Amino acid sequence: MNKLISNNKNLFRKLENFDHSLRTLPKNQDLIKFNGKKLINFASNDYLGFSKDREIIKTSIKWITKYGSSLSSSRLITGNLDKIRMIEEIISKKIKHESSIILGNGFLLNSTLIPALTGNSLGNRKKYYIFSDKLNHASINYGCFLSRQDFFRYNHLDLNHLESQLKKIPINSQKIIISETLFSMDGDFVDIDGIRFLSKKYKSILYLDEAHAIGVYGKNGFGLFSNYKKNINEIVVGTFSKSLGSYGSFVSCSKHFYKIIVNNCGGLIYSTVLPPSVLGSIFAAITKVDKVTNLRNKIKDNYEYIIKSLKKIGLDTGNSNSQIIPIILKNHQKCKMLYRHLLVKGFYVKEVRPPTVPRGLERIRLSITATMTKSILKKFINTISAFKFK
Ligand SMILES: Cc1ncc(COP(=O)(O)O)c(C=O)c1O
Repeated sequence: MNKLISNNKNLFRKLENFDHSLRTLPKNQDLIKFNGKKLINFASNDYLGFSKDREIIKTSIKWITKYGSSLSSSRLITGNLDKIRMIEEIISKKIKHESSIILGNGFLLNSTLIPALTGNSLGNRKKYYIFSDKLNHASINYGCFLSRQDFFRYNHLDLNHLESQLKKIPINSQKIIISETLFSMDGDFVDIDGIRFLSKKYKSILYLDEAHAIGVYGKNGFGLFSNYKKNINEIVVGTFSKSLGSYGSFVSCSKHFYKIIVNNCGGLIYSTVLPPSVLGSIFAAITKVDKVTNLRNKIKDNYEYIIKSLKKIGLDTGNSNSQIIPIILKNHQKCKMLYRHLLVKGFYVKEVRPPTVPRGLERIRLSITATMTKSILKKFINTISAFKFK
């Protein structure tokens, strides 16, 4: 069994206050206030700007007005508002899978779904082998850990390493392979055809987390895997909290797994259903997302410009080819200095350090949105160019 990156011994994390009241003003899409200063936010996951979308906000208000501020119980008691089935059917159609279930946030989903799928919740203990990309999100690590199965963390995106580990396990044993499709800290992509091939060859369940791909990729904006016809062993998860500008998460799966999840997934069974305001904004966002190809094109233009410009300055952006761009400085003090330099000039970025990323790969994580104008991006690049990296 692999060791997880341990949580912090140094208690450096701090909750800081941000004023978000400017962001819904018509022309101030990416503005926040921090310590009284207006800043362009390069650290949100609101890639399409949906969290400020007027129609989405209006639907959210409509639903809270009609159904109240909470549904006041879990879905298995009386919380299962009839509208939820409609939302789930829309998601299944877009993902091209038999059924879908929505529940609380993505952390709750991954950390309780993986134990449920591997038959290891509610006192049962089955034998499963879990294979998980080394850079998968913490919520996946929690899920693997809580499942109390043997799990192996293969080198990031290294399908040869994954296969070498799969080969060691008896072919008829139960297995699950887990990967993000677009990685949240590196902005690089899994080879979907390759990982699918391995999961079929080794008779494994394939579990793909599309948290950061939903909204930005796929023909109808429903993720990189949405264009594929799924088989019974393929499971897709995602969140509504990034591009879709809301909160909560979903899993799309076969009818077989649907039953297992409804009967075993603690995060669904023992947690209060999402509130109507959130369900309303989810409904509005998933019905709007296929219509915003223009925003997806704008994101692509924007991130291509930023990646090209950062590379020209000589900065290491890893293998990112997406709206998530790391500036890998490999040194926390340097990250802190660049963070301060940008803050003074009106930009908010987030520096990321271990255990969120591996030691030695400390970075600034940029996230690029559709609502950032070319002039903002140019000013940002000029400001970075003026920083003394050596
Ligand atoms: C890949 C991935 N999965 C799951 C989550 C958790 O989602 P949520 O923020 O809805 O809890 C995140 C959040 O950053 C993520 O990056």
